[in-house]
Amino acid sequence: MRKILVTGALGQIGSELTMGLRKTYGNDNVIASSRSKKEGHEKVMESGIFEILNITDGERLSEVVKKHKIDTIVNLAAVLSVVGEKNPARAWDVNMNGLYNVLEVARQESCSVFTPSSIAAFGLSTPQDNTPQDTIQRPNTMYGVTKVAGELLCDYYYTKFGVDTRGVRLPGLISYQTLPGGGTTDYAVEIYYEALKNKKYASFIAEGTKMDMMYMPDALDAITQLLEANPDKLIHRNAFNVTAMSFAPEEIAAAIRKVIPEFELSYDVDKEKQAIAESWPNSLDDTAAREEWGWNPKYDLDSMTKDMLEKLTIKLGI
Ligand code: SER
Repeated sequence: MRKILVTGALGQIGSELTMGLRKTYGNDNVIASSRSKKEGHEKVMESGIFEILNITDGERLSEVVKKHKIDTIVNLAAVLSVVGEKNPARAWDVNMNGLYNVLEVARQESCSVFTPSSIAAFGLSTPQDNTPQDTIQRPNTMYGVTKVAGELLCDYYYTKFGVDTRGVRLPGLISYQTLPGGGTTDYAVEIYYEALKNKKYASFIAEGTKMDMMYMPDALDAITQLLEANPDKLIHRNAFNVTAMSFAPEEIAAAIRKVIPEFELSYDVDKEKQAIAESWPNSLDDTAAREEWGWNPKYDLDSMTKDMLEKLTIKLGI
């Protein structure tokens, strides 16, 4: 049985992944960690062991890994794209120095490591449609820079030291439990809350801007499937393109209108976020993930929208 440490366990992915992993591997075998406690996350903090851990503190990380005899680190602590542009130094510190600490401790303590990369690892010179697995990567955000460098660093620790590193390039993630922490794709979560609360939404992303997206249950499947994938079948390791759908604001609005016909979409475009969105692909080619470890998402835009609106209606008590 694995002994897993999840960093960033109270974030958008971590809060759901920790609970999923606890179901599979047992509550005592999944240690949740975060740089601080957060209200509203009692389920994650109390259903198993919880440690206060900032991944920029390598000594503390090493202490936690040794204390719990960790053999797998799922490193979800990161600063996202929009927040990263406001404070690039912090994005570098958490995303790069933090990842370096994770990989170093993994090397010393023989752990395997899962780290997500992102659609942000691509830039304006990348082919925008059906973006290949292996292609030009010249992102122009600090978040993107740390994601490309992170992919390379994970490759390096695998080839140089034999650390079992794995990862996927996640698209925008949509979920109803925990809000995302300041990214460019966040509009695709906000729109559902506003559709239910006010029947209207002003999008900070412009009409016609397509980005890859995925419903959280599929993202959790991607992470757990790749974690358990047969290493002999893996040609790539740290940066599998994965996607489930690609849409622009008007398309998600049309899907919402099938459930809430009176829903209205308007635009209040944020220049900085729009520039980031335009630098990212319209759609990814995820053939390598499908071939090497059986990636096969379950939700498309309509089925996700139906489920999101049902679950949020209950959550918001509407
Ligand atoms: N959802 C992330 C962001 O928008 C992309 O990885 O920053």
